[in-house]
Amino acid sequence: MSDGKNTSILRIENLRAFYTSKHGLVRAVNDVTFEIKEGEAVGLFGESGAGKTSVALSILGIFDRMSRYYASTSGDKENQQLWALRDKAKKKGFASAEMDIELPGVEGHIWFRGNDLVALDEKEYRKIRGNEITYVPQGTAKSLNPYSKIGPQIAEALWTHDEDSVFWEREVARLVLETLDLVELADPDIRKNMKPSQFSMGEDQRILIAMAIITNPVLMIADEPTTAVDVGVQRRVLDAIMLVRDELKIAFLIISNDQGVIAQTCDSVAVMSAGRIMEFGDVKTVLINPGHPFTRALIMSNPSMELIRKIKEKGLRIRGIPGKPPDMTNLPPGCPFSPRCDYAQDICREQIPKYRQVEPGHWIFCHRYEELPKF
Ligand SMILES: Nc1ncnc2c1ncn2[C@@H]1O[C@H](COP(=O)(O)OP(=O)(O)O)[C@@H](O)[C@H]1O
Ligand code: SF4
Ligand SMILES: [Mg+2]
Repeated sequence: MSDGKNTSILRIENLRAFYTSKHGLVRAVNDVTFEIKEGEAVGLFGESGAGKTSVALSILGIFDRMSRYYASTSGDKENQQLWALRDKAKKKGFASAEMDIELPGVEGHIWFRGNDLVALDEKEYRKIRGNEITYVPQGTAKSLNPYSKIGPQIAEALWTHDEDSVFWEREVARLVLETLDLVELADPDIRKNMKPSQFSMGEDQRILIAMAIITNPVLMIADEPTTAVDVGVQRRVLDAIMLVRDELKIAFLIISNDQGVIAQTCDSVAVMSAGRIMEFGDVKTVLINPGHPFTRALIMSNPSMELIRKIKEKGLRIRGIPGKPPDMTNLPPGCPFSPRCDYAQDICREQIPKYRQVEPGHWIFCHRYEELPKF
């Protein structure tokens, strides 16, 4: 869609992010690699519990804090010890492997404009989070302050992130109006003085998008942007995202379990299950000609009209993914999809597949890709 997309904005390499829990480590992000190029929108698509939000929290540098919070409030001594070991390892610059123990928290690399975010300290992170990288969290209801007018709430992002900048009050006010206009909120000059309760759910979501773009970020992450809104207003939220893409040319990571949302807004898509990227490629390839058995099963569970036509032509059956997603504290030893995969063989149950490029820009995590029947 946009031009000049060959420069990488964000490159995630062998990212892992493990939570602690009373049942052991939750391997929420497990050796994840993909990149987002300048101006590109990448979708992170997968079933609930796949690890999508955990990827976002890792990029934002808040995964460890969130995970540690649960360990400390639960009073679980064993997990608190694991976090103490994590701190020790971090001080020494060691990864889990060098400590001979699997540790919770984030490891791997998140390259953002030449810096590895995983190695940044909190002070450096603050310059990036909410400024160069912004986030619209899942479930918008709690994200806006109910007691404060939306205009000042949106402007706040500018004051906190550009304290020593030359933005005068009038300039900030102008930017707020311009941004609300861009996300197509009607009568912004009047409604900037209203409180969140006076807006509908779809409008809330667009106000949060406005908040996330006012700092002119390089990358915006939208976590399930349409999940909390009614079907009737989903279109307007998606239109707002597309308008922002066209006008501002910022890169996007759009998290969704709805292939329609991904198809409409993204250039490329990473399909995620059990903490792994199962398939990555351009949206057309992955959603119309999926190569991975998991992607096939996922899109067959809620097929698009185009796909229904194709399924009928080929005499295939429409059905959901059989069985339940694997327990993330006790993953199968081989491919995490093997208990649910129609094509699983011994190698699948015993060995973890390699995430490999099967054609330029198309990545697959499957032992048997070449042998599978074409879709
Ligand atoms: N704070 C937490 N502590 C422990 N486990 C968590 C926590 N948050 C999420 N999880 C688990 O991590 C896995 C991935 O969750 P998440 O990243 O939220 O998935 P998604 O966004 O794809 O639904 C799930 O198994 C979930 O239950
Ligand atoms: S590796 Fe085996 S079990 Fe996993 S998706 Fe491929 S064929 Fe299925
Ligand atoms: Mg989520």
